[in-house]
Amino acid sequence: MIWPYPRVVAHRGAGTLAPENTLGAIRHGASLGFRGVEFDVMLAGDGTPLLIHDETLERTTDGKGAVAHMPYAEIAKFDAGRWLAERWSGERVPLFADAGCLCRELGVWANVEIKPAKGFEAQTGRAVAEMARELWRGADRPPVLSSFAPEALIAAKVAGPELPRGMLVGRVPADWKARMRELDCVAVHCDYRTLTQPLLEEIHASGYAVLVWTVNDPREAKKLLDWGIDCIVTDRLDLIAPHC
Ligand code: G3P
Ligand code: MG
Repeated sequence: MIWPYPRVVAHRGAGTLAPENTLGAIRHGASLGFRGVEFDVMLAGDGTPLLIHDETLERTTDGKGAVAHMPYAEIAKFDAGRWLAERWSGERVPLFADAGCLCRELGVWANVEIKPAKGFEAQTGRAVAEMARELWRGADRPPVLSSFAPEALIAAKVAGPELPRGMLVGRVPADWKARMRELDCVAVHCDYRTLTQPLLEEIHASGYAVLVWTVNDPREAKKLLDWGIDCIVTDRLDLIAPHC
């Protein structure tokens, strides 16, 4: 696959520079020139897709409890910015719908990571794909939907077959070809520390793209880009240029 998306993507909105998975972070990354963003989408207790990484609210909000057991209207009351710095107070846990609209408005491409709470894999994959179809209807560059959960990718394929998918893994498994075929993905998304140049070449030769996360050392970023990596996801928007 020829990767038609940005080669450098901001992790969770704007990496370390803004509270993760918030609209403020997406705006901040875009203001620094990043043309691509990765964020995580989970379902609230009432099935509403929202942006958050953890299954619980404690680390990134001033709320408490399990995301999957609380309706969005409750989650939306919590502050999702102050944990990082006072100047970010007022940020909320955003709706996926609002994040998608913002990306389109800013002209920022999205890698939407389907991040199901345990037990909600298929439901989350389906809900994210259904909403993504609506949000990016008519867009030149649809988002790539990725997930560590195969059930989520399979459900996403059923709900939005035209949306490209990425198989998210730590280390690329030995049977990656069979799994890529089974999940019908266009790209492997792996931990950069487990990737070798020969493996990258082998994956490319099979017609798939490779995205790596989370590359925070500029020397590593340069090495991977020199190898011909399709995309790097970074937390360090202050060290790694968006157009390198
Ligand atoms: O999608 C790449 C990366 O975000 C996967 O790990 O835990 O940061 O969501 P995590
Ligand atoms: Mg992620």
